[in-house]
Amino acid sequence: MCGIVGILGTKPVAIDIVDALRRLEYRGYDSAGIATVENGLLDRRRAEGKLRNLETRLMSEPLKGHVGIGHTRWATHGRPTEVNAHPHMTDKVSVVHNGIIENYRDLKEDLTAKGHIFQTETDTEVVVHLITDEMRQGRKPVEATQRALGMLRGAFALAIIFAGEDNLMIGARQGSPLAIGHGQGEMYLGSDAIALAPFTDTITYLEEGDWCVMTRTSVQIFDRDNRAVERPSIKSVASSLLVDKGNYRHFMLKEIHEQPEVISHTLGNYIDMAAGCVKFPSMGIDLAGVTRVTISACGTAYYAGVVAKYWIEKYARVPVEIDIASEFRYREVPLAPGGLSVFVSQSGETADTLEALRYCKRNGQIIAAVVNVRTSTIAREANAVLPTLAGPEIGVASTKAFTSQLSVLACLAIAIGRARGTIDAAKEQELVKALTELPRHVATMLHDESFYEGLAHEISKARDVLYLGRGVNYPIAMEGALKLKEISYIHAEGYAAGELKHGPIALIDENVPVIVVAPEDDLFDKTVSNMQEVAARGGQIVLISDAPKEKAGCRLLAHIKMPKAHPFTNPLLYAVPVQLLAYHTAVFMGTDVDQPRNLAKSVTVE
Ligand code: AGP
Repeated sequence: MCGIVGILGTKPVAIDIVDALRRLEYRGYDSAGIATVENGLLDRRRAEGKLRNLETRLMSEPLKGHVGIGHTRWATHGRPTEVNAHPHMTDKVSVVHNGIIENYRDLKEDLTAKGHIFQTETDTEVVVHLITDEMRQGRKPVEATQRALGMLRGAFALAIIFAGEDNLMIGARQGSPLAIGHGQGEMYLGSDAIALAPFTDTITYLEEGDWCVMTRTSVQIFDRDNRAVERPSIKSVASSLLVDKGNYRHFMLKEIHEQPEVISHTLGNYIDMAAGCVKFPSMGIDLAGVTRVTISACGTAYYAGVVAKYWIEKYARVPVEIDIASEFRYREVPLAPGGLSVFVSQSGETADTLEALRYCKRNGQIIAAVVNVRTSTIAREANAVLPTLAGPEIGVASTKAFTSQLSVLACLAIAIGRARGTIDAAKEQELVKALTELPRHVATMLHDESFYEGLAHEISKARDVLYLGRGVNYPIAMEGALKLKEISYIHAEGYAAGELKHGPIALIDENVPVIVVAPEDDLFDKTVSNMQEVAARGGQIVLISDAPKEKAGCRLLAHIKMPKAHPFTNPLLYAVPVQLLAYHTAVFMGTDVDQPRNLAKSVTVE
């Protein structure tokens, strides 16, 4: 999950490339670099760490070329050092790459035997040496690149420029997204349309296996068999996606606060508010005939899927098989043709989720994609797209996309239940009413955060934190743990409360905060017993509940009083306090909340 960009410009391109890379930093930010062609020679600047380090470098050592490529990196092969930073180059060619070259070791061995000297630990470097090797044999840049591409195995998006070529750039896409931007006498390449938004809104997405040869005024696209093909150009809405933090300290906080609006906006796409019923797109799927559902996703999106499993089984009475995509895709799950497979993904580019989708498609499943990026690969390969209308989510830790995913999945569960007759019109109206009340409940959670700032101080002292939940709120305990660990770097685990006595209780002492996600529902009393087991061992309990604190029956470190809402909607509502707790703890700890270490917003490598 790196970000790549290329510009065939009519003026020095370095500043514009940095501007595009800034919009790609969500894809990774271990290092960044730019290469240009100037007076026929390749030149580059690279820097470890954040993009601002590259900008500093460029101020003292500017690049003036009108053709250039840029890269912001999330390290897969090779430490995040300057030497390993892209672009990689020889005297003839320079490349930026997103993805993984799976056969790079063999290629590197062959090339080394031919006398090529490698400078880096990266897989990417083989690409520049492959192309250079072909050019040394007398082949022109385009033919040399075509032959080199045929030797690569794995997932890659590439942008390539050449010494002596002031009006040539080549792009290639296999497994990682790549878009062409059509300018006025300029041409662009980018990992997504957001990167290209300041330059153009006329976008052509390369498809799997495509590669393209570009000049400032022309683009030729070839498919994996090197046949010339046409790909449609679209008007991208990315320019409206250019976002800033407004008056929030971080994108994550802004996106937490956008949730009432996002949930309302998303529900509006799936609910007939006047009739008080779900209005679900046909999807080309006979929901009444659904006898089995499979769900697969990663990280936070997976936890949304787990909540959906509880809803679909409870209300639609359909068994749901769910697994994290990196396991699902290799388990060879037996699937009867005609089943419904649901894939949840904010970016729509997560490699494991995409491969799990392709497994299900090969096995005759009908594919529904719950995605936030409608032009994403997962969206394009699904039979039906169920968009989350969350708007761009810039914070690496997913918040509004999560509650938007839950909004869509809640409506899906109702739609299947209605189609199968397992819920009647009255029940549908009850559940839909609960959903329409949700934005207001979420908004009340956001009125005053001062409480979380104080609690964050306590949580920040912990080495380990346990999150407990039961039933449909158990996934929210897991999501809360993920939020805390991914932005504050404190170890946290989400557990089913009933599982505590089967081992995890050994962790409990006065140094271990236990966050209990427990609406006053039919499982509340069971969870109270678990809390008392924790309190008896000195555990510091934070109870998140609409129940009065007296009902905990034990001493509490803190009580987060929740509004009373329908049990159906509690997972969405209880996501907010665990998001805020993680956010304020991370702020107190001084971590990089929007771009936590080692992470990236979209994991497009396996
Ligand atoms: C969420 O906070 C994480 N950053 C991560 O787990 C994320 O949910 C996961 O990588 C899946 O991403 P996707 O939704 O874009 O597929």
